[in-house]
Amino acid sequence: MDLGLADRTIVVTGGSSGVGLATVRALLDEGARVATCGRDADRLAKAAAGLGAGRDRLLTGVCDVRDADAVDRFVRGAADTFGGVDGLVNNAGQSRMKGLDDSTAEDWRDELELKFAGVLNPLCAARPFLARSAAASIVNINAVLAKQPEPRLITTSAARAGILNLSKSLSAELAADGIRVNSVCLGLIDTGQWTRRHAAAATGTSYEDWQAELAADRGVALGRLGRAEEVAYAVVALLSPRASYITGTGIDVCGGVGRSIL
Ligand SMILES: NC(=O)c1ccc[n+]([C@@H]2O[C@H](COP(=O)([O-])OP(=O)(O)OC[C@H]3O[C@@H](n4cnc5c(N)ncnc54)[C@H](OP(=O)(O)O)[C@@H]3O)[C@@H](O)[C@H]2O)c1
Repeated sequence: MDLGLADRTIVVTGGSSGVGLATVRALLDEGARVATCGRDADRLAKAAAGLGAGRDRLLTGVCDVRDADAVDRFVRGAADTFGGVDGLVNNAGQSRMKGLDDSTAEDWRDELELKFAGVLNPLCAARPFLARSAAASIVNINAVLAKQPEPRLITTSAARAGILNLSKSLSAELAADGIRVNSVCLGLIDTGQWTRRHAAAATGTSYEDWQAELAADRGVALGRLGRAEEVAYAVVALLSPRASYITGTGIDVCGGVGRSIL
């Protein structure tokens, strides 16, 4: 099936690693033009160098999604280079492994800032361009934590719930401009986040065994962590003009760890 993404321009935040990088790769494979950003220039350059065909349709920019001016410059640069913006994937970020008693006021502030700025700054920058696209789509990368909070990730769970709520409001607000808004809610996906946690835990257990224990501990029905490419597939599907009647909803990519039936 032709997903209709060839020659469309998609902005993906946080494309130097994990889910963002897999999404960039999948979009380039579909013939899209892609602009992506991250904070670390070297990491971004290495990721870009590792991409195969389609690198000539990739633009990278160094920026922090919390910095509205920098995000605006990055998105405008993408629109100038490629002649518009048709899609936006708000992916950049990370979670905060802290419970109630060890979460400071600063943790709460930083977490809420990262999650909300990570959606609102790219949205504000891209909105005028998306409104001119014939097939505009926004995908917010979220977590099943939004619907199923974990006390050990208390700030992230609360922030994620807020972003799910915001996505619904945005889908209603932006429908008049022909912009669809959906979420992809992740379970445990094998990316840089988990390799860093494995290294920090320094248990002496191999990464493979540690992952298997983690999947069992968290009750992942499929018994393993997901792969970033498995998330990218859902993101690309929601970006596609073929998903033209899907808005205000989302897809869980979580191997069955979610307990919610909605
Ligand atoms: N992996 C999971 O199990 C899981 C589960 C639920 C939700 N998620 C969410 O999925 C998204 C992708 O995570 P991932 O697992 O793919 O993580 P990852 O491998 O660590 O990749 C994160 C990407 O975001 C960039 N980034 C982080 N903070 C940024 C900022 N403030 N401004 C701009 N770029 C930033 C990183 O580059 P720099 O560090 O160079 O900026 C990197 O490119 C995140 O929002 C994460 O919270 C992941």
